[in-house]
Amino acid sequence: MPTAPLLPDSTAPAPLPHPATLPLLDPHSYAGQSARQVRHLRMQLAVDFSQRTLAGTATWLLADAPADPTPAEKAELILDTRGLQIEGVRLGETADGPAAAYHLDPADPVLGQALRVQVPVGTTAVCIVYRTVPEAAALQWLSPAQTAGAHPFLFTQSQAILARTWLPCPDSPGIRFTYEATVEILGTERGQLLALMSAENPQATAPDGCYQFRMAQPVPAYLLALAVGRLDFAPLSGRTGIYAEPATLPQASYEFADLEQMVTTAEQLHSTYQWGRYDLLVLPESFPFGGMENPRLTFVTPTILAGDRSLTSLIAHELAHSWSGNLVTNATWNNFWLNEGFTVYFERRIMERLYGSSYADMLQVLGEADLRETIVELGKNSPATHLRLHLAGRDPDEGLNDIAYEKGCLLLLTLERLVGRPRLDAFIKEYFARFSFHSMDTDMFIAYLTEQLLDPEPGLAERLDLAAWIDGPGLPANAPVAHSARFDAVNAALAQLATGAAPADLQPTTTEWSSHEWVHFLQGLPATLTAADLGALDAAFHFTASGNAELLAAWFPLALRAGYAATDAALENFLRHVGRRKFLVPLYRALLTTPGGRARAQRIYKQARPNYHSVATGTIDALLK
Ligand code: BES
Ligand code: ZN
Repeated sequence: MPTAPLLPDSTAPAPLPHPATLPLLDPHSYAGQSARQVRHLRMQLAVDFSQRTLAGTATWLLADAPADPTPAEKAELILDTRGLQIEGVRLGETADGPAAAYHLDPADPVLGQALRVQVPVGTTAVCIVYRTVPEAAALQWLSPAQTAGAHPFLFTQSQAILARTWLPCPDSPGIRFTYEATVEILGTERGQLLALMSAENPQATAPDGCYQFRMAQPVPAYLLALAVGRLDFAPLSGRTGIYAEPATLPQASYEFADLEQMVTTAEQLHSTYQWGRYDLLVLPESFPFGGMENPRLTFVTPTILAGDRSLTSLIAHELAHSWSGNLVTNATWNNFWLNEGFTVYFERRIMERLYGSSYADMLQVLGEADLRETIVELGKNSPATHLRLHLAGRDPDEGLNDIAYEKGCLLLLTLERLVGRPRLDAFIKEYFARFSFHSMDTDMFIAYLTEQLLDPEPGLAERLDLAAWIDGPGLPANAPVAHSARFDAVNAALAQLATGAAPADLQPTTTEWSSHEWVHFLQGLPATLTAADLGALDAAFHFTASGNAELLAAWFPLALRAGYAATDAALENFLRHVGRRKFLVPLYRALLTTPGGRARAQRIYKQARPNYHSVATGTIDALLK
């Protein structure tokens, strides 16, 4: 990656650089320095379900020409595009302005095509007339049958570098802009569909299918989001609420009843919530992620509607991104851990405050188990296990993994143990205050941490050993190991089973277990269990019939390994409906390891594939080819 060292190598303490002075060096964006001019985006889009296209204009308002422009800043605006049909480029704010000279570079399969617009001195805006293609990677167009209702649905997923597949933009997390949009839904159903964005949102359907949006705080392109569907709104508090399909809304309102308390708790831990409203949008089942932190409107999978509020840490996670990620943003995807590591740490702090440390401890232990598994999968010496990544030349979607989340969180927990919570909290508060609405890279974070926390205390830097965490593989020697008292009871039950107890004998202790205890239980079962053993467990605890997706995702691989066929129908049903990649990939992998599994996986996939978003099919196509 073409990064230059941010700090001069000198013994004299250099003043800390500010992110605004950093060169824009993102290996996954063509925009480069030219994007410094960008201030505001004005979008005008028509949503056509019959053609599966978005069509309209994206107008980029530019800052005044810099006093002493470099040749690149003066001459060109370079935008990222991928698969867009560019119909024209105009100078000025409207589609009837003078034609601009522009050029599309040859296409790269991952990065797309640079759109180079000649920008004469004095240009204040560039208007691009364009349309998307039906297979645009960010967009998923759902037929009514793929929703919980009887209407079509559209949603976007822009992170990491898919915003460019639905609008021409400087698609780098290091570049921010404010935006406004006019969205018009076409077709006979227009009056029944609601459009939402990562912006100020309507709460009711407009009979004419026309919606206006405004995002007054600057955001990077990966946080641009749009969803259109038959959606209702239910307020939870003055500033929180839920959008969902009518059939899903009552269950969602129950599941997320603590939302306002979560926001209040996060504010107590951190600082005032900066984005005005915090709403959730519950998507159809094909949504490829658990959650996506689109500002003001988190997108979530319906697979966390477990009926018992057991999976709401995911909401705490997406909410936490309102600070880590959305206020202070990883400068490039190589610095992804700065988004996710802080967010996981903060997610668990929120859950601890709300539901007690015994609850948060379970999440931490499960997280550490996932991390150990990921390290084994990637190889304990693999550079993919470093916090700082080197993704130049690769699709970030393939290079981003669990390491950023759990190893990043463990780095902060290590720091917490070394300096104590009060000092770490004060540091984090100051970090967010100072760098809000800016991007951050690993070197700058290290410089800031060193100045604020490490240098003042002799020996601390050695005890922390940042180099081992940031640019070293696996788990550093000083990583703490979490303990969960609630899991002690689970471990005791597992020990009972191992010494020959019948599943039914465990029952008095298991009646109070949450799905976290059950997931830990399932993860702790020996690999030697037979189909008959699993049948006995299933008869006692009804795993196959569970409505909890996390529990099912832990159960199905055991059943596949042991050849316990009673789960087959439930597994196929799950794979046909759920589009969440985190569940799909391990399940298809587990299928592949069974006798005749490849043919079976391919048969199921053939049926299920039309229901998956491109980020899921991209991964699973490669797995099953
Ligand atoms: N921002 C991520 C999702 C993401 C990451 C999308 C990278 C595209 C590229 C989101 O905050 C997230 O981490 N979601 C997790 C849930 C979380 C509880 C770990 C998910 O989707 O599973
Ligand atoms: Zn996240």
